[in-house]
Amino acid sequence: MQATEHAESDPKTERTAAHGTSDTDPDAQYDFMVVSNRLPVDRCSSDEPGCEGGWRRSPGGLVTALAPMMTKTDGAWVGWHGAPDEQIQPFSHGGIDLVPVQLSTQDIELFYEGFSNATLWPLYHDVIAPPEFHRTWWDSYRKVNRRFADAVVHHASHGATVWVQDYQLQLVPKMLREARPDLKIGFFNHIPFPPPEIFAQLPWRKAIIDGLLGADLVGFQRSSDAGNFMRSARRFLGASVKQQQVHVKGSDGQTTHIARAQAFPISIDVQQISELAQNPEIIERARQIRRDLGNPKTILLGVDRLDYTKGIRHRLKAYEELLSDGKVTVEDAALIQVASPSRERVEQYRLLREEVEGTVGHINGTYDTLQNTAVRYLHHNYPIDEMVALYLAADVMLVTALRDGMNLVAKEYVTARTNNDGALVLSEFAGAADQLKQALLMNPHDIDGLKDTIMRAVNMQPAEAARRMRSMRKQILDHDVDLWSSDFLNALKEKVIRDDS
Ligand code: G6P
Repeated sequence: MQATEHAESDPKTERTAAHGTSDTDPDAQYDFMVVSNRLPVDRCSSDEPGCEGGWRRSPGGLVTALAPMMTKTDGAWVGWHGAPDEQIQPFSHGGIDLVPVQLSTQDIELFYEGFSNATLWPLYHDVIAPPEFHRTWWDSYRKVNRRFADAVVHHASHGATVWVQDYQLQLVPKMLREARPDLKIGFFNHIPFPPPEIFAQLPWRKAIIDGLLGADLVGFQRSSDAGNFMRSARRFLGASVKQQQVHVKGSDGQTTHIARAQAFPISIDVQQISELAQNPEIIERARQIRRDLGNPKTILLGVDRLDYTKGIRHRLKAYEELLSDGKVTVEDAALIQVASPSRERVEQYRLLREEVEGTVGHINGTYDTLQNTAVRYLHHNYPIDEMVALYLAADVMLVTALRDGMNLVAKEYVTARTNNDGALVLSEFAGAADQLKQALLMNPHDIDGLKDTIMRAVNMQPAEAARRMRSMRKQILDHDVDLWSSDFLNALKEKVIRDDS
C-alpha cells in the first residue's frame, strides 16, 4: 500500500489500510470529477469519537449532499483531507476515488481560515460578522485555487465534466477554462451569493466574478442568489446579461462560451434517512433519549455547526425568555442543542463559542433543578444514526439561521418524521424556506416573534402538525439529492443556443 509518501515509516499510513481504503493509480484519468475544498473524509486520530482507521466524515452540508452521488459514479473527488502539511497519494475510500490536495499550515491560515472563512464567509452571509480584507490572504486564495485546478488538469480525461463546489474555489472555473478548453465546467455555490451592494466591498470582486464566469453553468441554492450574481456581473464587469446568460469573451474578443446562472436547491439522501428512521434500534435509541431526559412533554432540538450564521444566540435568548415568562418549564420541556465544533481557530468562532457556552451556563444555573436541565448543550460531532435518533426524539426542531444557503438539517428532520408528527420552526433566511413553506416560518431577529413561533410549535395540535409535515415530506421525497445532481448535470450538458445578436 502507498497511501502516503512514506508508507513504511508513517504510522498514519497504517490507519489508511483499514476501513475500505485502497490505493488508486496516481495518474488515473476520469470523465467526471468533483472538486471541493474538503474531501468527504477528514483526517482524525483514533481516540476521537467517530474516527475509524484515521478517517471520519467531513463536517457540513456539502459533503452530506455530494457523498451519495459520488458513491454511484466512476468519477473522482479532488479536495483537501483536513490535515496540515500531510501529503497523501490518490486513494479510494468507501467506494469513492479521492485525489487529495495538500494544504500547508500557512495555506490553512491564509487561504482557509483567512480568505475563505474570515473574508468570504461573513461577506456572503449578510456581513453578520465584519469581513476582513487582507492582500496576503487573497494571494494565498489564488495560489491554492491554482493548486486545485492543476490537480484537475492532471486527472481529467479529454472532454471530461468537472463540477467545482463552493466559495473556497471560485477562481477554479476560469483557471480550468484557460488550461483545458475541452472540459465541461460546472460550479455550484452552497452558500448564499450576496447582493451587489454588499459584494461591492470585496477589493477582488472583479476577479471573483471573472473566475466564476469561466464555468458553463453556475448553480445557486436560491433564484435570488443567481440574480445577485448576474447583477454583480453586469455591475462590476459590464457584462451584458440576457436571460441569466453571459457571452464570455476571450482575450481576442471572441466568445469562448456562454455562462449561465440558475438555482438548483440542494437536498439530502432521502432513502438513507428514511431507512434509519424506521430502524428498530434507532427508534429504541430515540425512546432511550426521551427517558434519559425524564420523559418531558416536549423536547426541542437544535443541530448546527457552531457558526454565527446559525442564530444559536437568538434561539437561546428566546428560550431563556420563555423560561423566565413561565411559558415553558424545565419539568415540561428540554432543549437539546448539538453544536458541532467548527473553524475553531477563527476569532469570530472562538468568540461565539465563549458566548454560547456562557449563555447556556447562565440559563442552566438559573433554571435547572436537581432533576432537570434546561439546555443540554453538546459540543460534539455525532454519527448520522445518533442524529436520526435525536430527530425522532424531538417534538420541535429549531432552525433559526440568520442566513443559510440551504440548511439540510431542516430537510433531514422532516424526512425522519415518518409518522407525520413533530413541528419545524424555520428561519425565512434559510434557503430551505423556499421549499418548506409549511414549516413555521419566522424572522429570528424578531425575538418576540421567535418566542411566539416556538410556543405555536410546542402547542400545535396533532392534526395541524400532520397536515404540515405531510406536505413538507412530499416536497422532500419528490426532490432528493439525486434529483438535484442529475438536474444540474443535465442542465450542464444542454446545448445552449448562442444568441450573439
Ligand atoms: C458549509 C460549506 C462547506 C464547508 C462546510 C464545513 O457547509 O458550504 O463548503 O465544507 O460548511 O465547513 P469547513 O470549514 O469545516 O469545511
